[in-house]
Amino acid sequence: MINFKELASEYKTPLYVYDLDYMSAQYQKLKEAFKAKKSILAYAVKANSNLSVVKHFATLGAGADCVSIGEVRRAFLAGIPKYKIIFSGVGKSDDEIREAIQKDILYINVESEAELARVNLIAKELDSTCRISIRVNPNIDPKTHPYISTGLHDNKFGVDLNSAKRMYIFANNSEHLDPVGIHFHIGSQLTQLQPIRESAEIVADLVRSLQKINIELKFFDIGGGIGVKYDDETTIKPYDYAQAILGTLTALDLTVICEPGRFLTANAGYFLTKVLYEKQNGDKKFVVVDGAMNDLLRPALYGAYHKIEAITESTSEPRAVDVVGPVCESGDFFAKNYLLPELQHNDLLVIHSAGSYGFGMGSNYNTRGRSAEVAVQNGEVKLIRRRESFEDLVALELEFLED
Ligand code: LLP
Repeated sequence: MINFKELASEYKTPLYVYDLDYMSAQYQKLKEAFKAKKSILAYAVKANSNLSVVKHFATLGAGADCVSIGEVRRAFLAGIPKYKIIFSGVGKSDDEIREAIQKDILYINVESEAELARVNLIAKELDSTCRISIRVNPNIDPKTHPYISTGLHDNKFGVDLNSAKRMYIFANNSEHLDPVGIHFHIGSQLTQLQPIRESAEIVADLVRSLQKINIELKFFDIGGGIGVKYDDETTIKPYDYAQAILGTLTALDLTVICEPGRFLTANAGYFLTKVLYEKQNGDKKFVVVDGAMNDLLRPALYGAYHKIEAITESTSEPRAVDVVGPVCESGDFFAKNYLLPELQHNDLLVIHSAGSYGFGMGSNYNTRGRSAEVAVQNGEVKLIRRRESFEDLVALELEFLED
């Protein structure tokens, strides 16, 4: 059990706390589920990109799914082997493509015909060959929040099946491209198996039709997206997930690449914030806390639910309150009409499921320094990112003025 009160008093609030043992357990569960085939779990660095977290996954044997050259550099710094690093994303700059080729990562996930042409040109300029995979958009509704849905033609991601086929033929005919993989990712926080199974079937059929024209791929990259429990959602079991995918791959000798983010880190993370005070506006009761939307944006951006646990001496009956931060936006809330007992100044609130897309989506809005982050492993606590100071926030601007 993590002692949140002790951590809050030692490291102050707002504070992110990550349970590395929980991350290991999630990793092992998923790895185990795919044991019938060769597999790489390429951790989606964007979910929680703290170097210590990425390093933790490196020690477990994970690869990394990166969506900017910054994330690729992070993966290298954290010790992920280059042959397990993937670079995805709908828009990569020439400089990013060049560096990825020079770093000789496993492959670049290409998301458009125009991008394939750029990669080809840059590989040619470097007198090199770039391993690529193509992100296919299977036009399947993943039945998740529209902001995190990516597998429909309405979404900007990937290419349709016909374009994909053309692109593989082009790549196969180019001496500067080596088509090694195929990729799809239909969305995040997926709680239904059927859309994943259907997408995998469509993509596996494409692999078979490529085989017929002598294009042999090695990697079947199924993206990430496995949903987790924030509240009382029914989620997909790793075993069922793996079986659904593996069932589409009969007679295909492919290494499965999975890019989990949230599954590995969301429920390993907690966001600690202290009560500043309560206030009443007419009939409405607010609990004002020291954390804000600049620390944890998900409730404001997606209306996302995060469980809130109050650590208080209060024994009063719970009542419905809005938990809000100090930022000057009405959208700055962690929960609306949430049942909490009467709270005192300095009571602690633990916001659950904050280990994915929490710190990483943070900002310095309202000139607020981002929170500190600590990791807990085997009962030992380590500060893995110090709190940002005012000096940190203005440092770059002062340099500019001095010039
Ligand atoms: N692979 C690709 C190509 C992705 O685009 C993503 C997430 C992942 C893997 C990892 O997905 P996961 O396993 O974490 O679901 N900020 C949003 C989530 C955005 C997800 C973007 N892509 C949120 O807070 O819910």
